[in-house]
Amino acid sequence: MARRLAGRKTARGHSPGRENPASMTLNRVCGFFKGYSRAGDRVVAVRDAARETGRRRGRTSATAQLGVAMGTLKDRTALVTGGGRGIGRAIARRLAADGALVAVHYGSDGSSARETVAMITGDGGRAFPLRGPLGVPDDVRTVYERLDAGLNGLGEPAVLDILVNNAGFNVRGGVTEVTPQDFDRLMAVHAKAPLFLVQEGLGRMRDGGRIINISSAATRVALPSSLAYSMAKGALEALTRTLAKELGPRQITVNSVAPGFVRTDMNRQRWATAEAEAVHAAYSVFDRMGRPADIADVVAFLASADSRWVTGQCIDASGGTGL
Ligand SMILES: NC(=O)c1ccc[n+]([C@@H]2O[C@H](COP(=O)([O-])OP(=O)(O)OC[C@H]3O[C@@H](n4cnc5c(N)ncnc54)[C@H](OP(=O)(O)O)[C@@H]3O)[C@@H](O)[C@H]2O)c1
Repeated sequence: MARRLAGRKTARGHSPGRENPASMTLNRVCGFFKGYSRAGDRVVAVRDAARETGRRRGRTSATAQLGVAMGTLKDRTALVTGGGRGIGRAIARRLAADGALVAVHYGSDGSSARETVAMITGDGGRAFPLRGPLGVPDDVRTVYERLDAGLNGLGEPAVLDILVNNAGFNVRGGVTEVTPQDFDRLMAVHAKAPLFLVQEGLGRMRDGGRIINISSAATRVALPSSLAYSMAKGALEALTRTLAKELGPRQITVNSVAPGFVRTDMNRQRWATAEAEAVHAAYSVFDRMGRPADIADVVAFLASADSRWVTGQCIDASGGTGL
């Protein structure tokens, strides 16, 4: 039977007005961002100090080295689609470092997904890989059958607390190049699959759950060469706002995160040469391309209890692209 959010809080001993581990995590993350916003060298100093603290305590995980409190997502189960590589890998690692058991979903690249799982377990976290191509018949049913099987194999109940709709790809093309087939594939993976993953997942999702959709700054900053991709992400953002209203009574929050240009396989050509990277770095006020962890840290906040009053929003995580 679904447990109420308030019940879980009481069980964890968090009382209003007292700083809980989730707040401490955010405070530390905010401290990290504050340092970052002042100057690049301050970031390095903050990060190095945190690493030193982690070393002194004998911790080895990347997250421990960043001084992030462990365990704020303890007893939570997360499904991260496209968790094998790129942004999804960083999200999976971060949620696992925060204590969640993570299903690392992937489409076809099993070795990357297994590598992600190995990274998580090597850091002391819990995860398992889950293959499930999206945009094909029975895609959603397959994902949940395998999720349930993976949880069952670990002796865990078939429940879900955090769904991150991250899997995606781009087919570039402006108005004269885009094809109906590309449009259908993009809509199938970026909009249709998230909707039906939610529909099928709601029966498993405990009250107080989190749905986080990875959108793109391309819905706000016009990129003519990514026309159909931008439209698919626009649909995902509409899904976010509308679902947030419907799921509010269950204390489930629904938000999107919109990255700018991030250094991943998806847009390798944008950073294949120093010249190309400089062009795309210049979109950000920080004059660099995003890193997967830049996005994962925002997702971690939205997955945490600290974000309980934030829903139906699209959080820009593009380093100030288009300001
Ligand atoms: N990178 C950027 O600059 C950027 C900017 C804005 C938004 N985004 C969004 O961020 C998300 C992650 O992108 P990324 O840059 O991390 O991409 P990536 O490194 O190419 O990784 C994409 C992930 O999605 C999975 N995936 C792709 N198509 C799939 C399908 N049909 N079925 C199942 N899984 C599929 C891949 O699975 P396999 O590993 O099995 O192939 C992989 O795990 C995407 O939604 C993307 O639109 C990225």
